[in-house]
Amino acid sequence: MDVEFVTQQLKQRLPLARFQHVLRVTETAKMLAERYGVSIVKAEQAALFHDIAKFTDSDELRQVLVKEKEDPRLLSFHHELWHGPVGATIARDEFAIEDTDILNAIRYHTTGRANMTFLEKLIYVADMIEPGRNFPGVEELRRTTEKSLDSAMEACIYHSVQFLVLKKVPVFPDSIDCYNEYLMKK
Ligand SMILES: [Fe+2]
Ligand SMILES: [Fe+2]
Repeated sequence: MDVEFVTQQLKQRLPLARFQHVLRVTETAKMLAERYGVSIVKAEQAALFHDIAKFTDSDELRQVLVKEKEDPRLLSFHHELWHGPVGATIARDEFAIEDTDILNAIRYHTTGRANMTFLEKLIYVADMIEPGRNFPGVEELRRTTEKSLDSAMEACIYHSVQFLVLKKVPVFPDSIDCYNEYLMKK
């Protein structure tokens, strides 16, 4: 994959603030990949594509989800959850990314799921803790990355589920499965 070309494409497709977020997630993902012995090349690719569909119109997102037979439960949840799976199809169809782990890291970066791979966890965590994030509690999440990738993923999914519950918005089942997986390991 030509990183320079993909970066130019992202710059054209995304508003500046989102493009800059993507670059920060990519740097964070590469740093975590080095720390945890995950492929830096795969981490970079997944991070670059993770939000490529973030500004795609929701009708178009819906059409892709249906056409690609992505998880039908997504359609009854908020469209914020749709850009991950659609981003994976864009990476595959327009940029010839074939690696299933990279595609799944893009696909599940918003919801998480049970049994995530190292790469999936790494992208989920990098997206949440990149240096531009400033929500309450982010510093604590950043500190968990010093322990292990699992501690970081655990802290991030707890934070996400709690955030949604406090807002009284529905939580996608894959996120609950991820949350339960960590709780039940204890
Ligand atoms: Fe995203
Ligand atoms: Fe993101």
